[in-house]
Amino acid sequence: MDANMLYALRDPAGLPFYPVVFMLLSVLTFALHIFAVQVMLGASSLVISGAFRADPHWRRLASAMTDVAKIAVSVAIVIGVAPLLFVQVIYDPFWYTSSVLSARWVIGFIVIMIAAYLLLYVYYFSNYRADTSRTPRSRWAMLVSLALFLVAGFLIHVFTSQMLHPDQWMQWYAPGGDLDTSGASLHAYNPWRFGFFILMAVPAVGAWLLAYARYLSGRADADLGYLAFVNRLGARLLQVGVPLVLLLGGLWMATLPESAAGFGTSIWVWVALAALVAGGIAAHLARGDGERGSYLPLLVLLVVGIVIAAAREALRYVILYGAHAYDFMDYKVNMDWYSTALFFGTFAIIGGSVLAYLLTVAWQAGRTVGVYTPSPAVHRMGVVSIALIALWIVQYFVVGFVVWAR
Ligand code: HEM
Repeated sequence: MDANMLYALRDPAGLPFYPVVFMLLSVLTFALHIFAVQVMLGASSLVISGAFRADPHWRRLASAMTDVAKIAVSVAIVIGVAPLLFVQVIYDPFWYTSSVLSARWVIGFIVIMIAAYLLLYVYYFSNYRADTSRTPRSRWAMLVSLALFLVAGFLIHVFTSQMLHPDQWMQWYAPGGDLDTSGASLHAYNPWRFGFFILMAVPAVGAWLLAYARYLSGRADADLGYLAFVNRLGARLLQVGVPLVLLLGGLWMATLPESAAGFGTSIWVWVALAALVAGGIAAHLARGDGERGSYLPLLVLLVVGIVIAAAREALRYVILYGAHAYDFMDYKVNMDWYSTALFFGTFAIIGGSVLAYLLTVAWQAGRTVGVYTPSPAVHRMGVVSIALIALWIVQYFVVGFVVWAR
């Protein structure tokens, strides 16, 4: 497709701030999204492995990982919205065309996510507070839930891949000259790229287990036998996972489209490769020993994830600019200081205070044996968070009213 056509599909209103900032935020939030997805997939797989075993440690782990999967999926969805917004802002001609070409699947994505999430809860409530010595109920629900989450992820992968082939859009839309307006087909995918992001779940959940063991080891009633089991499993998953991901990454690079020829040996790939290898070794060395575990591997993998997300974005740029002459960096800017300040303010002040409060309560409650009572300082954090939200709502309506009244 002609570059002028791609430019004509842009939003004529332009962007409210510099495009490079949206791109950086997109990379960062994608890295967080995919990390939450990987923890969710890894935790769900451990739930299934544990639910089909009689070993008491596995059963206990399955029960704990049900909570992790449940929360990680909400985090993945909430954080998934952010890159969705940013990609629509700087790559709107591509994202919307890709969505229209597979419109039924875009809507189907939501239905599939709802079904998967509900099934996760079917499993959760079927086994809520149940004794872990009995065989878990509704194991089928967890199996189907995981399968549906994978289908949903595959759909997102297809939408992302279709964006990268503007030269084929007409052929997909009107194969042989006959219009296909059904939106029923999926046109482009790369199993190695999809597999790479999905199987990152193996080292990610390995690092998660090491952090989980470290966290639990701070409890007065810590069960050292269980923690040693969790630690061993976490270290093993890290060891197996990193080489597996390297293999899939290599296959992804070997099967890049022609429009990205050369990217597979570019500096981006070498940096990502170095980050994965160095990160894998660092995480292995920092895994902690015995039953204590460590938080470090989790941090290391998060940094590695950001480097990979940056390389993934560079690949998109190389294809869309290099092969199709579309540069998101020259998007017209129609500076809007208020909305930019509101965005960053909301993110830092409201998001920061509310998250700090919730995480503090969750952290302290999980470490407490018996009933948890927040200290007066934590209680004040909660009050301040609610006050800030109220203030935010008031300013939102006041500014809206002032603009309307002018
Ligand atoms: C829980 C199931 C989900 C899984 C397994 C999943 C998996 C993935 C994968 C594998 C990718 C990388 C695709 C690629 O680059 O080839 C991705 C990207 C992405 N996902 Fe998810 N995802 C899930 C849910 C969601 C949800 C609910 C949202 C939105 C609210 C979302 C938004 C995104 C966005 C915006 C991207 C990046 C698209 C781009 O940069 O072009 N995902 N996801």
